[in-house]
Amino acid sequence: MRNIRIGMIGCGVVGQGIMRLLKENAASIEGRLGGKIEVKRIVARSKRDRGPFVPPDLVSYDAGPLLSDPDIDIVVEVMGGVQPAYEHLKRALEAGKSVVTANKALLAARGHELIELSESRGADLYFEAAVAGGVPVIRVLREAFASDRITAVRGIINGTSNYILSRMTESGLDFASALKEAQEKGYAEADPTLDVGGGDAAHKLSILAMLAYGAKLELAQISTDGIDQVSATDIAFARRFGYVIKPLAVARALADGSLDLRVHPALVSQKNVLASVNGALNAVYIEGAAVGPCLLSGLGAGAMPTAVSVVSDIVDVGRNLLSEAGGRVPQRAFRADSVKVAKVQPMSEHSCRFYLRFAVLDRSGVLGKLASSLGKHNVSIEQMVQEGHHQTQEPVSVVMLTHPAREGDVRAALSEIASLDIVAEPARALRIEPT
Ligand SMILES: NC(=O)c1ccc[n+]([C@@H]2O[C@H](COP(=O)([O-])OP(=O)(O)OC[C@H]3O[C@@H](n4cnc5c(N)ncnc54)[C@H](OP(=O)(O)O)[C@@H]3O)[C@@H](O)[C@H]2O)c1
Repeated sequence: MRNIRIGMIGCGVVGQGIMRLLKENAASIEGRLGGKIEVKRIVARSKRDRGPFVPPDLVSYDAGPLLSDPDIDIVVEVMGGVQPAYEHLKRALEAGKSVVTANKALLAARGHELIELSESRGADLYFEAAVAGGVPVIRVLREAFASDRITAVRGIINGTSNYILSRMTESGLDFASALKEAQEKGYAEADPTLDVGGGDAAHKLSILAMLAYGAKLELAQISTDGIDQVSATDIAFARRFGYVIKPLAVARALADGSLDLRVHPALVSQKNVLASVNGALNAVYIEGAAVGPCLLSGLGAGAMPTAVSVVSDIVDVGRNLLSEAGGRVPQRAFRADSVKVAKVQPMSEHSCRFYLRFAVLDRSGVLGKLASSLGKHNVSIEQMVQEGHHQTQEPVSVVMLTHPAREGDVRAALSEIASLDIVAEPARALRIEPT
């Protein structure tokens, strides 16, 4: 058997983890693959120390020679960002090389294009690390469930958001303090926008929807709300009703053939399996029509868990190369002619129960006005609590859980309520995810 020769672009957190795993597990990897994995070239951006597992003489700063090296079988991309990663991978695929990437931002933006290019060349493009780091959800959707019809995928796929909401839940921290703590512990970037704003989870959800439904979609089709609007008050009220607030990404197949796609914080019953996925852990809960529920959970980030996914992809692609079976498994789980532009349900049509919190003046008739506006828009109240200091002039909190209601109706009622003279602050509305 010959060696599988790789060139790696990017050598930061994940790249260094890959080098460590390749060294520490070299013998067992060779036993599984039937050949050695040989790192021929590494490309980074700037000169710096890369730890004990990266031989400095392998590192250079121009991707050109790596991409044109005829001896490299697989290009491993762990640099991140859409450009120049896209140009590099396009060049690699055009040259007939296979690709392994961890880059969800690139896949969300240009994934179909790159996969179609790889298919036209009989090459492979693997990306297990792009969703949920060390949790093997891509393989499960692509291969283990190739015989089933996926009815829903619900995931906690952003560890930063899950860490922040978990800390707010456990310790009553407000959002800003929990974010600061996450940054100090290395769970959040200095600029956390992509994580706490839901953008990163939307990138990953577009990949999950592609695998579960053969869906081709634009990121703008995914309704995306971040966790930054969740307050400690909402978490405390949710608990009183038997719920926790979790950062969810949901893809569901609807009866009319369209998809329900959304990323947002949601109330989840304390009895739901996702309610106990805490800290920086990720989880994906898949429901198949025939198989029923399947929960995958584990570390969604970090050098070694992510490296495991990348190196397992290298092993898989290496096996294909050694048996001359490149392109055997369709990378979108569906063959190209079965991948379809997705029809996505508008959020105004989405129906679920809602958590609503109003800050209102403590006057007689207030509840009647709230109930009347909600009722006028077909939103009916299932449970309610009111809390406040009746002796002071401070606004009081009125929290309601609704029966299932159309989101468009709820928004119309909230907009009418916002104009009432009893309202002290904008209402908070969170979706309740059915279990
Ligand atoms: N970190 C995780 O836990 C994790 C989990 C799942 C997926 N991912 C994905 O894995 C990828 C890498 O993440 P990471 O955390 O390892 O990032 P990172 O620590 O920032 O490393 C990025 C690496 O890419 C290099 N690089 C950046 N721009 C470059 C350019 N234009 N030309 C050449 N090299 C360039 C950097 O070079 P220098 O070292 O010289 O700066 C660095 O070595 C991203 O797509 C990320 O979304 C990461």
